[in-house]
Amino acid sequence: MTKAATQPAPAPTPAPAHDAPAHNAPLAISARGLALTLGSSSAPVEILKGIDLDIEVGEVVALLGPSGSGKSSLMAVLSGLERASGGSLTVAGQDFASLDEDGLAAARRGRIGIVLQAFHLLPTMTATENVATPMELAGSKDASPRAREELTAVGLAHRTDHYPTQLSGGEQQRVAIARATAPRPTLIFADEPTGNLDASTGEEIVELLFTRRAETGATLLIITHDASLAERCERVLTMADGVIVSDRRTTNAAPAVEAAE
Ligand SMILES: Nc1ncnc2c1ncn2[C@@H]1O[C@H](COP(=O)(O)OP(=O)(O)O)[C@@H](O)[C@H]1O
Ligand SMILES: [Mg+2]
Repeated sequence: MTKAATQPAPAPTPAPAHDAPAHNAPLAISARGLALTLGSSSAPVEILKGIDLDIEVGEVVALLGPSGSGKSSLMAVLSGLERASGGSLTVAGQDFASLDEDGLAAARRGRIGIVLQAFHLLPTMTATENVATPMELAGSKDASPRAREELTAVGLAHRTDHYPTQLSGGEQQRVAIARATAPRPTLIFADEPTGNLDASTGEEIVELLFTRRAETGATLLIITHDASLAERCERVLTMADGVIVSDRRTTNAAPAVEAAE
């Protein structure tokens, strides 16, 4: 029995002035025919060969695939570190395909947090300075005290004035996670965040990343070779040779968003 059978049809709703997504869930990422070609013009290398992908706001997604399949390249494009060579891409409501490098840098600021396998902390800056810098760039006036709070939140209250070389790998990755999440980004990207860590330290880092994600409700895309980590996500994408070859839901619901404060 349908509503229409028993009630008069409702007056037509005026179309929204802007393009709304075709379904209800808001999208954090929407890509169509996304392509990336690098190398010289005489020897171009097709790295991404037409990626179609929608990721909803708040989804926790794992990205698997053999080495060289294009995972890091896809993440670089989705996070605005690299410009796509073709296709359309909307990230956090912004048309990334129309932005140049400066535009992408501005679009990333405060909205996108990135955690990489090799940590990439600035060696001449203390832990606090590393975490404070993106908040300063995003206009924060109290970046330094906030950075100390963020470092405390990732278990590094006793390491705030240490330089990266004075920290263990696990501690450096904690700093990198604090740096990525301190500006409260709506999107967090992590590229093999445990790849340089021993198993038990890696497990702690994964827990920290999931906790920070849950505290903010951010969308999380995590590249991993760890099948058990992938199964903890809601959705698992698999790449091969520059395309997504599998996209499946796990039995996990989205990890609950913890109450802020
Ligand atoms: N700057 C570049 N120029 C040419 N080829 C590249 C460049 N960067 C990456 N590639 C190639 O693109 C492919 C995908 O690389 P990558 O995205 O790092 O894969 P994954 O992260 O899945 O291991 C690889 O074959 C790699 O050699
Ligand atoms: Mg990679």
